[in-house]
Amino acid sequence: MGFKIAIGSDHAAFEVKERIKKRLAELGHEVEDFTKVKDGMGDYPDVAHPVAAAVAAGTYDRAVLLCGTGLGMSYAANRHPGIRASLCLTVEYAKLARGHNDANILVMPGRVSPVDPHGKILEAWLDAPFSGDERHRRRIWNIDHPEGK
Ligand code: RB5
Repeated sequence: MGFKIAIGSDHAAFEVKERIKKRLAELGHEVEDFTKVKDGMGDYPDVAHPVAAAVAAGTYDRAVLLCGTGLGMSYAANRHPGIRASLCLTVEYAKLARGHNDANILVMPGRVSPVDPHGKILEAWLDAPFSGDERHRRRIWNIDHPEGK
């Protein structure tokens, strides 16, 4: 069964975002694009915040965000409680982000070349389940509870 996925980029990753969006649709996922690029420019927080808020609210199962480096999108999305936005440059990062961190947002760069192809990282992240291990659950809980246990 497909996921309901939000996607968004700034201007620096627009073309890569278009390719990822197409691939997600081919894989049978329902995709909504939050990109707001006008006259060749779109600020990454303007996309990251509504996408992260919608994922945190449960409107989407997951999201994919892209900017030049992937860093700006990560900083903004991770300000939202319940969001674990993971910048992944390899398939191994994508698998571990899912398996250990239950990452609900995949972030990739548009201007910097990831080590593995974008499509391989995307598919690894879509396919990898969260391990569900108690130790990983405890650590994930602690991310949103800095005051501790
Ligand atoms: C835009 O020029 C660029 O700063 C942005 O895409 C991203 O790389 C920021 O983290």
